[in-house]
Formats: sequence, structure tokens, C-alpha cells
Amino acid sequence: IRALRVGMIGIGTVGSGTFRVLARNQAEIAGRAGRPIELVMVAARNLVRAAAIVGADAPLTDDPLCVATHPDVDVVVEVAGGTGPAREWVLAAIAHGKHVVTANKALLAVHGAEIFAAARRHGVAVAYEGAVAVSIPIVKALREGLTANRIEWVAGIINGTTNFILSKMRDEGLDFAAALAQAQALGYAEADPAFDIEGIDAAHKLTLLAANAFGTSVRLADVQVQGIAALQRVDVACAEQLGYRIKLLGVARRREEGVELRVQPALVPASHLMAHVSGSMNAVMVKGDAAGVTMYYGAGAGSEETASAVIADLVDVARLDGTHAAQRVPHLGFHAHAMSELPV
Ligand code: HSE
Repeated sequence: IRALRVGMIGIGTVGSGTFRVLARNQAEIAGRAGRPIELVMVAARNLVRAAAIVGADAPLTDDPLCVATHPDVDVVVEVAGGTGPAREWVLAAIAHGKHVVTANKALLAVHGAEIFAAARRHGVAVAYEGAVAVSIPIVKALREGLTANRIEWVAGIINGTTNFILSKMRDEGLDFAAALAQAQALGYAEADPAFDIEGIDAAHKLTLLAANAFGTSVRLADVQVQGIAALQRVDVACAEQLGYRIKLLGVARRREEGVELRVQPALVPASHLMAHVSGSMNAVMVKGDAAGVTMYYGAGAGSEETASAVIADLVDVARLDGTHAAQRVPHLGFHAHAMSELPV
């Protein structure tokens, strides 16, 4: 059996975790995928640092396009982050007939329509479980487990960094800056933490959740976003006194006129399950007409936590071979309806 040959772009927090878990659980992963998954090439900005991680296991290059277009690569794992250059690499990979696995929520929230259209044209998959609530298999839950449902709403704590900051302010009385510094030191925050604290990262993830929940293309610009930058310790303490916890929630709700999308700090009653999601953990609740409310809980940030989802997508891709593109499950991408065409 032929191995699935992986080319990886980026070997930072997520890439290094993916490398470690692939190596550590090699036999189990190959068993579940039906064939070995081999890392054959890695692109990195800092080759010295990358060599210290991958050793002699995979050839290194500083040219991501080389990985994206290389004939020996079957699937490109894009875990470098950012939008402009990542869009070029991913589109190049797709044009060369390669599947793409990415944890890059910003890329898909901004350029998803173009990327998924290209993937459909070329008959390849673009998988992104690691882009939303990292280790929680929420994309698969929406596409597979809940596929019989008409989804009414999706709501969740979908940014680990802000949840960590709010928890530290409440539990340890830390101020905002000290809590953020800790989140950065632990590798939870985005390269530019403004994406976390201003709610933009949560908005990116909410567009991906909503696209899967409602089968509609959702634009980032449709999300009303308010972050937590203005919150102080005193706000957190006041909420506590009144029997609430402040949580940054992302909410997508089906409405007559389309889908309502909001990211904002909310007062959650202390007795509610969501109030108990602390530190960098995430949780997502989904209301389906048949299943009722289901809830998913797990790590919202982290190296191997995200790798867990990235590798699950690689296993899906490894199982795709021999399936006609149109029959591929999961069929990865947005559906084509405009918001106004949403059947309500
Ligand atoms: N910065 C992100 C977060 C990483 O804190 O949730 C995971 O997407």
C-alpha cells in the first residue's frame, strides 16, 4: 500500500505538535488510515530551528511553494498561519491536485469561498477541523453526527486565549496584561494577540461553524464583533458578585432573514455549564431540531491539541483515495446559497 505523503508548511506551535504526534502514534495512525502517513517535506522560515524539531526525518526548505507544488507530495498541511501568502500556497497546492489540511481559520474565514471553489474544480479536499476549537471534533459533529438536523443555533466559547485571560482575572485576580502574557508564554495566543482579545479569531471560527451548521456561505463582515480589551478586573469581580461569569461567546442563530452572527462578552449564570469552561478550554453547544441541545468540550488552544485535529483530517484524506470526488465524505467546503436564500 502506498503511503500518504505529507508536505508541511510551517513548523511552529501546531506544526511541531503535528510532527511529534505523527511520529509517536505512527503505527496506530497508519492502522486507522489504512496506510502509512509520511512527512516527506517541511517548509520553514527558520531552518535551524526547524532542523532541531524534525531532525533528519524530512527534507527542509525555506520555500513554501516548493512544498505546495512538489510532485512527491499528496497532501499539503498548511500550519504557518496568516492570510496573504498562505492563500497563494494553498491555491497552488490545489491547482497541482493536492489535498489541503489546514488549521488556519483566518485564511478560510477570509478566502474560504475562493479556496473551496478551487478545491471543487480540482476535485481535492480542504479539511480544517483544527481551525475551530482545536481538539473538539465540532466540524465532524456538524457534518456527520448531526447531519439529520436542521440546526437552530450554535453557541460557544471558541477562543482559548480570552477564556484563559478571563479565568485568570477571576480566579487569581491577575490583571489583563499579566494574564495575556501568560497565555502568550503557553503558546495559546495568535502571533498578533489583538486577533484574540478583539474577538476576531472567534469571529473567524464562528463563520466556519455557521457555514457548516447552516449550509450557507457566511462572510466575516456579517459577524458583529466585540472583544474583551475593555474589560477590567473590577468588571469580572462585579459579575461574580451578581452570580455571573463573563465569557466571550460566539453565537450563530438562524433567523427569518438569514443567519445572525455575534461575538461578544456575555454574562453567563454561574450555574450554567458554559460558566464552568475555564482556562484555555473551549465548549460549543448546538441546538438541532431532532437531537436537541448537544455540547462539546475540550482544549481550545495548544500544540498537540491542535495536532490531534490536523492528523484526524490527514486520516480522512488517506481514506479518500479511490473515491470519486463527488462522493467524498466529508465533502469539505461551503455550499453555494447566499444568506437570503437560506431556507427558513
Ligand atoms: N489563539 C487561538 C485561541 C488558538 O486562543 O483560541 C487556537 O485557535
